[in-house]
Amino acid sequence: MTSPTTTNGPAAPNAAPAADPDATAAANADPSAATVLTGPADLDQGIRDDPAAHRVLTGDRPTGPLHLGHYFGSLRNRVHLQRLGVEMFLVIPDYQVITDRDLADHLAEHTENLVVDYLATGIDADRATIFTHSSVPALNQLLLPFLSLVSVAELHRNPTVKDEIAHSSQAAVNGLMLTYPVHQAADILFCKADLVPVGKDQLPHLEIARTVARRFNERYPHPDGTTVFPRPRALLSAAPLLLGTDGGKMSKSRGNSVPLAADEDTTARLLKGARTDTERRIGYDPVGRPEVSNLLLLAGLCQDRAPEEIAEEIGDGGAAALKRTVTEAVNEHLRPIRARRAELAADRGHIRQVLRTGSERANAIADATLTEVRAVMGSL
Ligand code: TRP
Repeated sequence: MTSPTTTNGPAAPNAAPAADPDATAAANADPSAATVLTGPADLDQGIRDDPAAHRVLTGDRPTGPLHLGHYFGSLRNRVHLQRLGVEMFLVIPDYQVITDRDLADHLAEHTENLVVDYLATGIDADRATIFTHSSVPALNQLLLPFLSLVSVAELHRNPTVKDEIAHSSQAAVNGLMLTYPVHQAADILFCKADLVPVGKDQLPHLEIARTVARRFNERYPHPDGTTVFPRPRALLSAAPLLLGTDGGKMSKSRGNSVPLAADEDTTARLLKGARTDTERRIGYDPVGRPEVSNLLLLAGLCQDRAPEEIAEEIGDGGAAALKRTVTEAVNEHLRPIRARRAELAADRGHIRQVLRTGSERANAIADATLTEVRAVMGSL
């Protein structure tokens, strides 16, 4: 028989302590100890050789439509990983969004739309497992032993949670908000994912997931010395960050993004309203002219060209010509995606079925992991 991890995790024998080179170095949970993979080079090198040895888990909060920033920053990368042959898990964390009551409206609609966006951009539902947090009880039960491994001070120190609290309109911080990084550790570890594509803001959470995995493994090894959980690594996108149309951080909630689902006229209107500057000559200078450069970058991403080259073509055409170019580039690039999107959105029955299938699969894996966890803890 194989080790327990091979039946319920990626094919790689992550159980051997020697396979985790930083297991001892990271004894003091230093964020710099997290392995962060960034570029396609890094990534492909390790993954191409043996895609079946990896399992990717990531997720998006069901709080609104996905936009161009998500698409170029992460969705495309996921599709690439899936095409390389890596198994993909996509969690829609509905138990995370209720940490902030203002964000938790229209949950069902946002959840379905996320699935539509995933499939329209190329995620293959036959090979990916797409599921909501709340539909997988055993995943959530992992939270209980995990919480016992983390101190209250550690929870209070988490910079991303602090930031979320600062931006929240809620009068008081609720318990779920404070503990959600541990919840996220359960999202990642229930399926023994070893790669987690995330934005930089999520690195503190990933560090908690790594800490939880390490402490659990130390405290509850299998009798033969193997361990239950891999130590997940963050996968940062190599794509440069897109700014919103106001020059700030692009965000679902700030009204400064172009949703994938927007029609061509809306896209034109949103981009026409983008902030630029008064210089007629268009040039790519991300530090000196961030707004203009951001539009050039967006056009470049859509056309797979260098932003400098596009700037050269526009020359003295000014902001109006720049915006026409970007609008055309975006609409053209998104046209096939939007067409697929419209078809998928018309068949809600299919979308629900994708979630049901994903949830069944996630439940089977979560049940097996929880059984293993209870066994090493000595629960009867
Ligand atoms: N916290 C992530 C966000 O705010 C979403 C998320 C939930 C997630 N669970 C996850 C991301 C697990 C990666 C892995 O965007």
